[in-house]
Amino acid sequence: MLRQDLLDVFCDPHTRQPYIEQNKNLVSKDLGSTYPIINGIPVFLKEGDVTGDNKKYQQFYDKVGFFTGAVFWFFCRLFRLDLISKRQDLLSDLHIGSGDKVLETSIGAGANIPALNQRAQYVGVDISMGMLRACQKYSLLNPYDLQLVQANAEYLPFKDHSFDVVFHFGGINFFNDKARAINEMIRVAKPGAKILIGDETQKHVDSIYKKMPLVKRYYQEAQPVVIPRDLIPANMSNIKVEYKWNNSMYILTFNKPI
Ligand SMILES: C[S@@+](CC[C@H](N)C(=O)[O-])C[C@H]1O[C@@H](n2cnc3c(N)ncnc32)[C@H](O)[C@@H]1O
Repeated sequence: MLRQDLLDVFCDPHTRQPYIEQNKNLVSKDLGSTYPIINGIPVFLKEGDVTGDNKKYQQFYDKVGFFTGAVFWFFCRLFRLDLISKRQDLLSDLHIGSGDKVLETSIGAGANIPALNQRAQYVGVDISMGMLRACQKYSLLNPYDLQLVQANAEYLPFKDHSFDVVFHFGGINFFNDKARAINEMIRVAKPGAKILIGDETQKHVDSIYKKMPLVKRYYQEAQPVVIPRDLIPANMSNIKVEYKWNNSMYILTFNKPI
């Protein structure tokens, strides 16, 4: 069963019809569409919805989900890598209040959530069920108020003005339609909300990913990293780009106007 306050923010990603829950499905109030809830995760993708680079990287992340969720965290503990404070540094501009409703698009294995205010309510969207399963396993060890959703970040299944904070880290450079994904983040954010988009810079891709076994072929063919500053609509306020970790990461932040 989904909590009523969460159910209230869902809508059809294409028609924007609101939903009710019926027999482990989300059914639109006009009965026009049904989406299943599998192991607690509403699935807003239908056959044929995922195409182009989105499909290619969905398949890639489905394959690496297990490693990302389990082996990665094991090695971090083994080598005492303090990933939480590194993530806190990356996301320090977010300022999440207790009780805030926060959306992460492309949540992956959920590595950002432990770095954020544990008294907020989180919703995490990802296109890859492999990554969402990894996130589910990991968050069992660290029980947060977190609802996972399988959807394309370019077609978010949420009503307008639903979230106090909206952020994305690490996937946008592969999206089919970056402008659409950014406009969706803005649409579902409440007026005044902080929006953050971050990713690796080209420097990091060239020096690390293009040399990593298994991963490098996906990056050798990928488009160069472009910071999506020019895709932020001119009416947004406080638009700012910062670089972190010796210029390996960029963080683009802005506020939705009130
Ligand atoms: C590098 S991981 C980043 C995960 C997490 N945000 C982090 O910082 O650790 C990129 C994620 O983007 C997701 N992704 C790629 N294309 C997507 C899309 N069109 N919509 C939603 N998620 C997508 C992938 O499945 C993957 O989990």
